[in-house]
Amino acid sequence: MDIKYAVKGGKAIKTSITKKIVGSYIFIIFSTLIVVGVVFGLLARFYAERQAMQGLTKDANAIFDIIINEEASNKDISSAAAKQAIRKKVLNQIGRMESNFTLISKDLKILYPRNEEAATFKQQILPMIQDKLNPKIKKTVSMKIKIDNLQYILVVLPPRNNVTQALKGWIVFYNPVEPIQKPVRSMLPVLLVSSIIAAVIAVVAGVFVARTIAKPIIMLKSRATALSKLDFDGSVEIQTGDELEELGKTINKMAVELKEYDIAQKRFFQNASHELKTPLMSIQGYAEGIKDGVFDNNEEALEIIIDESNRLKGIVEELIYLSKIESQENFYRFSTESMNEVIENSVGKLKGLSAKYNIRLNPILYKDARLNIDHDKITQALINIMGNCLRYAKSEINIITSNDGKWFEIKIQDNGEGFDKNESEKVFERFYKGKKGNSGLGLAITKVIIEKHHGSITASNHPGGGAEFQIRLPIVKD
Ligand SMILES: Nc1ncnc2c1ncn2[C@@H]1O[C@H](COP(=O)(O)OP(=O)(O)OP(=O)(O)O)[C@@H](O)[C@H]1O
Ligand SMILES: [Mg+2]
Repeated sequence: MDIKYAVKGGKAIKTSITKKIVGSYIFIIFSTLIVVGVVFGLLARFYAERQAMQGLTKDANAIFDIIINEEASNKDISSAAAKQAIRKKVLNQIGRMESNFTLISKDLKILYPRNEEAATFKQQILPMIQDKLNPKIKKTVSMKIKIDNLQYILVVLPPRNNVTQALKGWIVFYNPVEPIQKPVRSMLPVLLVSSIIAAVIAVVAGVFVARTIAKPIIMLKSRATALSKLDFDGSVEIQTGDELEELGKTINKMAVELKEYDIAQKRFFQNASHELKTPLMSIQGYAEGIKDGVFDNNEEALEIIIDESNRLKGIVEELIYLSKIESQENFYRFSTESMNEVIENSVGKLKGLSAKYNIRLNPILYKDARLNIDHDKITQALINIMGNCLRYAKSEINIITSNDGKWFEIKIQDNGEGFDKNESEKVFERFYKGKKGNSGLGLAITKVIIEKHHGSITASNHPGGGAEFQIRLPIVKD
């Protein structure tokens, strides 16, 4: 078989498998990365903001302390000097000043920075947090707000107990979210670049995997194509150690069986045409002889013509019968029968013939079984075998049965010459006949009947010499 040619022929499919596998790889990689990216982004943002809120609360407390201390020494925390001192201390202790902080008195006046400097706070932030400035709330409140389209995180510390009446109030501390989100956002390009690298790896790996998978498939396809063109020789060798290797073996086995079937089929047509042509030629020869007046006595020639016509008719009838028992299920009449009775009945039918040939028929029957069979067809099957054996046996034929509860077995043995080498495999073929053969259809009919009863039949030479047929019929338990 020409695999190279076939591989070329399978190019379209190879591409398609590769595309499918690579496509699936890319899809899986990208969907995984997108899911991971989104989940990671959301979690990272959530944790970053939580961290920032905690930091803000801590810083707000520190600022509160600074203001309290400043008030203790300076009294007016809104004075320029106090403000500068506070700023300096905040910068020293907290290390950053980008945060905004505001101290609000209990009667909601802005204590720090001075009222007039805190216009934005008053106009925009205060309304948003008004409900949080409630003496009943004893805990730090943290929240997110939006000012001029910018997001801020904000904490409100509850009023402290250990302060002067003037400082009884809330400290509000807020920071833009932007610097917190920045590191999270900066992860995105990293994620994108790693996605692209992963996709490239996926494509390379996908092409490799696809090639590995596609190659044996292409080989299998080309072998199947060759089989469809009746090229039964050659085999496909796949060593992938998986289902494809199994498939390859099955296809090779199928090729062997198809080849055998093909040979048997061809032999059938050769034999059939020969079998039909012989009597026809004989009939034609005698008829022409009569027409040309070459016979002294036409009577004899006409006798032969009638005989040959009958033989031809017999063959055609047997062929029709064979095709019916093979293909028409309703051609069978099943009933439950005693197998020993069926065998004895068949032997009885051959009494006359066996007496004529002077051959003993010995039924050796053991445990009986009642099987659901077509009585007449099984009788026919047995008579076909025993009829053959009568032709070949020297003196006797044994019919031995056995029953193991699952199978009913019938062995029919004669003491003739047995089969020639390799003949036993062919005797069930249509029109196969050996020496002393007739038309070669009897055993083919028997085999079909036995197989329609879900049984099996084999032929062999038994050790004592002579032919042996072994029939096995299933005993169905109800
Ligand atoms: N008991 C036997 N011993 C030796 N050879 C046998 C025996 N039975 C069958 N054969 C061989 O098998 C061939 C096929 O048998 P089969 O019964 O199918 O055909 P046939 O007897 O030649 O013709 P038909 O049965 O159609 O009249 C026979 O021609 C013969 O060569
Ligand atoms: Mg026969």
